[in-house]
Amino acid sequence: MEIKKAEFVHSAPTVYNCPNDIKPEYAFIGRSNVGKSSLINMLCNNKKLAKTSATPGKTLLINHFIINNEWYLVDLPGYGFAKRSKTEIKKLDQMIKGYILQREQLVNLFVLLDIRHEAQNIDLEFINWLGESNVPFTIVFTKSDKLSLAKANANVEAYKKVLKETWEELPFMIVTSSEKRWGRDELLGYISDINDN
Ligand code: GTP
Ligand code: MG
Repeated sequence: MEIKKAEFVHSAPTVYNCPNDIKPEYAFIGRSNVGKSSLINMLCNNKKLAKTSATPGKTLLINHFIINNEWYLVDLPGYGFAKRSKTEIKKLDQMIKGYILQREQLVNLFVLLDIRHEAQNIDLEFINWLGESNVPFTIVFTKSDKLSLAKANANVEAYKKVLKETWEELPFMIVTSSEKRWGRDELLGYISDINDN
């Protein structure tokens, strides 16, 4: 599948303010700074589409981008950014979980994990919550350009081992780098397969 057109549509503070449209949506979630917005830009061949930053906490709303006038990519705020007040953390948590649980148009959630790090509790808790809530999701490792191929593979295997402790069947996993544009065809092909079924 090729992305011929990608346009920003709307930023929403809650699920109730999201676009009034029934087209399928694919959303990106993960810790602050993991590379959600960068990945959307890489997929869309447009570095300025979603706002990115070297400082965590850039994306603070639910952002809808319409692709080929047919489906949406959704950029969500990150979780787990320490430098926030309790009120802010609660507000973002409600925004993210409200969207994930209530948005019927959400077809699949991509959970991004920085390939350089060992499994972190905050991600594992989030992934387990998705399982308990029956939300379909896929794991996307980001920033793989920052490691050698051998180290990247070893970290993916280590992650699988941790997940196997709680999951009978492992979620699908894709390794990417927005910097080097790795994993683009695989991710778009994956979305295309879901769209066609
Ligand atoms: P929040 O919106 O704050 O939750 O962050 P985010 O997950 O949207 O991350 P963002 O895309 O803004 O990227 C964070 C930082 O990581 C930026 O400095 C990016 O340039 C960098 N980054 C993202 N993806 C990659 C990648 O694949 N490789 C490298 N080397 N850097 C990356
Ligand atoms: Mg962002």
